[in-house]
Amino acid sequence: MLRGKRIKLGPIKREYIDSFLKWFNDPEITQYLIIYRPMTRMAEEEWMETLKEREDTIHFSIVIPNEDGSEILIGNCGIHKIDWKNRVGELGIVIGEKEYQNEGFGTEAIEILLEYSFNTVNLNRIELLVYDYNVRAMKAYKKVGFIEEGRKRQFMWYKGAYHDAIMMGILAEEWVKKNKK
Ligand SMILES: CC(C)(COP(=O)(O)OP(=O)(O)OC[C@H]1O[C@@H](n2cnc3c(N)ncnc32)[C@H](O)[C@@H]1OP(=O)(O)O)[C@@H](O)C(=O)NCCC(=O)NCCS
Repeated sequence: MLRGKRIKLGPIKREYIDSFLKWFNDPEITQYLIIYRPMTRMAEEEWMETLKEREDTIHFSIVIPNEDGSEILIGNCGIHKIDWKNRVGELGIVIGEKEYQNEGFGTEAIEILLEYSFNTVNLNRIELLVYDYNVRAMKAYKKVGFIEEGRKRQFMWYKGAYHDAIMMGILAEEWVKKNKK
């Protein structure tokens, strides 16, 4: 369990499956993700099953702890496609409960995940792709120190037009420098 000021990153639990199905079948959420087919319970269960065997993925739930010990699940995040030789990973995040978006929770989760990736897992580089119309996500990534490294032109088709994907990345040395200030 990783603790931030207002949220915690914790394990993925089977009981989260209904929330995941709700988020990953909501076009308002999936417009920003690679997912475009309906997400089935079967596929979601299979994904959960394979999580424990996967060496290239570290996945967390994002929860808000209540004073009585209960938790509100608001999203999930993780580092994927980890390349252990070169110490590179790809960051993914969703604040799936829409009433908790735009409250700073996404930014906080990314900060916790970067701290863990660089200082616990000892990765050297975290990268991601963000679609050009996802201004909110780009803003959150830049706030924590990601920089724009390039652009995949006409990478994806959305609402009748091709859109670019922005390549962003942050290095361990940049994270250390930013957090020393
Ligand atoms: C992207 C995401 C993780 C960000 O988390 P969040 O908790 O909603 O965002 P935060 O409140 O931490 O920060 C968002 C910033 O963007 C700003 N913002 C919000 N909507 C915006 C918009 N339409 N245009 C420009 N900026 C916007 C906010 O004001 C905030 O900046 P500020 O702190 O300077 O005020 C979350 O919105 C999400 O899961 N979205 C759907 C899935 C997704 O896009 N995942 C990422 C795929 S690359």
